[in-house]
Amino acid sequence: MATWTSGYVAEISYTQGFYRELAPTLLRFVALSKAMRARGADEPLSYCELGCGQGFSVNVLAAANPHITFHATDFNPTHVAGARALAAAAGTENLTVYDDAFAELLVRDSLPSFDIIALHGIWSWISDENRRVIAAFIKAHLKVGGLVYISYNALPGWASGMPLRRLLVDHAGAATGPIDKRIDAALAFSERIRGANSAYFRANPGVGDRLDRMKNASRNYLAHEHLNKDWQPFYHADVAADLDEAKLTFVGSTSVLDHVDNISLSQPQRDLLADVSHPALRETVRDFLINQQFRRDMFQKGPVALSPLDLQDDWADQRFALTVRRADVNMQVDGTAGRMGLLPEVYGPILDAFADGPRTVRQIANDPAIAGLGWSRLRQAITVLIGSDQMHPCLPEAGDAVRAVRTRAFNRAVMLKARTSAELTHLASPVIGSGVPVDRFGQLFLLAEAENAPDPVRFAAATLEALGQRVVKEGRRLEDPEEHIAEFRAQFETFNTRRRPLLAQLGIA
Ligand SMILES: C[S@@+](CC[C@H](N)C(=O)[O-])C[C@H]1O[C@@H](n2cnc3c(N)ncnc32)[C@H](O)[C@@H]1O
Repeated sequence: MATWTSGYVAEISYTQGFYRELAPTLLRFVALSKAMRARGADEPLSYCELGCGQGFSVNVLAAANPHITFHATDFNPTHVAGARALAAAAGTENLTVYDDAFAELLVRDSLPSFDIIALHGIWSWISDENRRVIAAFIKAHLKVGGLVYISYNALPGWASGMPLRRLLVDHAGAATGPIDKRIDAALAFSERIRGANSAYFRANPGVGDRLDRMKNASRNYLAHEHLNKDWQPFYHADVAADLDEAKLTFVGSTSVLDHVDNISLSQPQRDLLADVSHPALRETVRDFLINQQFRRDMFQKGPVALSPLDLQDDWADQRFALTVRRADVNMQVDGTAGRMGLLPEVYGPILDAFADGPRTVRQIANDPAIAGLGWSRLRQAITVLIGSDQMHPCLPEAGDAVRAVRTRAFNRAVMLKARTSAELTHLASPVIGSGVPVDRFGQLFLLAEAENAPDPVRFAAATLEALGQRVVKEGRRLEDPEEHIAEFRAQFETFNTRRRPLLAQLGIA
């Protein structure tokens, strides 16, 4: 048993996720949407990620934002080794990854002050003592005006699920053997309890769905999500109080769909919320209205409201890009208040204006169809498109070419890994300063081109075949070589029509 872990799961690595909420461009947009002043995402900022896991997100961001100095820590040395190896393979020089525990980072010499400190999936999974250390770190190292992104399991959404998690922990803790097998056994045992007409499952109907979702989740995810010694969901008000020690003020959610009340709340809920003026209580009431399970909050040290003129200017100068093809934009958006259709007369002209690539608001605002919408509807529509993950705020165009040199090198390092695994799911975009999903097929096709392979289809198929791998389609492994290559050809056509033009706009293909 390792002693550095403080009860944190270390025997199984965490998943290689990419989280767009960590992107400086998105965080700046949260401030803009809430009419707060924040430093430009294109400025030479300093950024620190606490508990970076395998470090894929911070690697993508460092490659896509070479003007920002990134620091990251995770006390799991296996995670750090992987994060450093990817940075080295990509030649990313603006990222330093430490294997410090939070308490060690707090006392490390020569750390700069940061414009952004981010922690995703940390706060609920560490001890009270480590939460105090993080608050102290933020207090010592965040610049005035700096932003903090923090996510955590929330109440009341987790209330009924807490006993299920406890059951898993107790069962897995009492067993021996590898952790994934213990998780399997704990899930099977929980299933038996449900099957025994358990009154707990009957009284809490959502718990059965939660158990079903757990059964389908990766064992690495479940180990880190649920099996730590420390695991605690929070009310927003308590997190805000803890961070108040570091002089932080809540600005808004990075799930920016939440900024648009008529998508996230019903009319009676909006009326009710209008009666609550205390900021922390408002958030808590909101969480009761939607049974919030997971919060993604952004705080700021010393927020300053933008004047109406500055706000208008900042919006006008901000560049945005679609992250799905115009033809593929989903006009039904799922908010917490249910599914809402996007009005074609509002969204149509806006989507058309962005169809051929990124634009600033100023560039599209003179189009009569858009001018007719007015500022407020335009801003709301852009916020909804970002919140539904169909659009992203961009860095300024002037730096695209310089950034593309770095993202090309990074993407190549990622695509080389696609030869053996589908684990890395995003490529870096110099345009949005963030990651864009590109599956293994897409990565292999792009790699083939980067390596001047004469036939990307054969290159990609042969790469898998050399490892004895085959595409599995509708549950069937495509063993027949002709069928296998036909599948790659079909994927290539889809990639060329649906993804490539978009990836070109985002500076990736
Ligand atoms: C649930 S994972 C989240 C990882 C990453 N932020 C993500 O979302 O993919 C939590 C991470 O925090 C790290 N961690 C936990 N306690 C820590 C501590 N005291 N100091 C440094 N890292 C810690 C773990 O090793 C793990 O990689």
